[in-house]
Amino acid sequence: MRFDVVTIFPRMVEAAVADGILGRAIDRGVMEVRVHDLRDFTSDRHRVVDDVPFGGGPGMVLKAEPLFRATEEIERQAGRPSAVILPSPQGRRFVHQEALRLSRLTHIVVLCGRYEGVDERVREHLATEEISIGDYVLSGGELAALVIVDAVARLVPGTVGDAASVRDESFAKGLLDWPHYTRPARFRDMAVPPVLLSGHHAEIEKWRRRQAVRRTFERRPDLLALASLDEQEREILRELLKEQEKGAKHERN
Ligand code: ADE
Repeated sequence: MRFDVVTIFPRMVEAAVADGILGRAIDRGVMEVRVHDLRDFTSDRHRVVDDVPFGGGPGMVLKAEPLFRATEEIERQAGRPSAVILPSPQGRRFVHQEALRLSRLTHIVVLCGRYEGVDERVREHLATEEISIGDYVLSGGELAALVIVDAVARLVPGTVGDAASVRDESFAKGLLDWPHYTRPARFRDMAVPPVLLSGHHAEIEKWRRRQAVRRTFERRPDLLALASLDEQEREILRELLKEQEKGAKHERN
């Protein structure tokens, strides 16, 4: 899978994709991430990428032309991309299902915005989708682009060494993760739950699922409505609801 990221801070993006799981996937040829300096697609001597907003007001707006030219050049080299993403706080919220959808595409262009905004014609006639990574405003699209590239890449087969760890991890099911421990079994009087040392695989599996359901129930009950729970997990949830009811009754009395 190929990403092309267009930015005025290429070093920032290059540094972030060079290490870790993503860096290894790139080295192995499973992923390709090309970074383009937006200034290379300007046509003036000063390589200007922004200008004042029509109608007045503070701040600068990223010009349409360099972004169009960059995307056209990428298209000329590599064919029409499957998606042209504009990260923006006005976009659709980036969640696991979105990452999964994008991980099935072969070629994605990401256009990083900066300054007060991006010329609206980019949004209307160049980007095929606008994605927000959360309800806050970043100073530019680079960090959002990196979040998208990272989350999508780890869902591409062959990127993460142990496919089971991606398949089983929390959001794949719509649940939060269960607790993890490693050696030593006792650290400064803090012990690992005995079941994890028991060697009893069925019991360990049951404990983990219970923890995942409990955490989701306590911390992110909104996720449960969309989670794909099996019968065992639904039973755990019923028990938790009963416990909660009992607690509420106890408080009332
Ligand atoms: N650019 C600035 N803020 C952003 C956000 N929250 N998500 C995606 N892109 C952004």
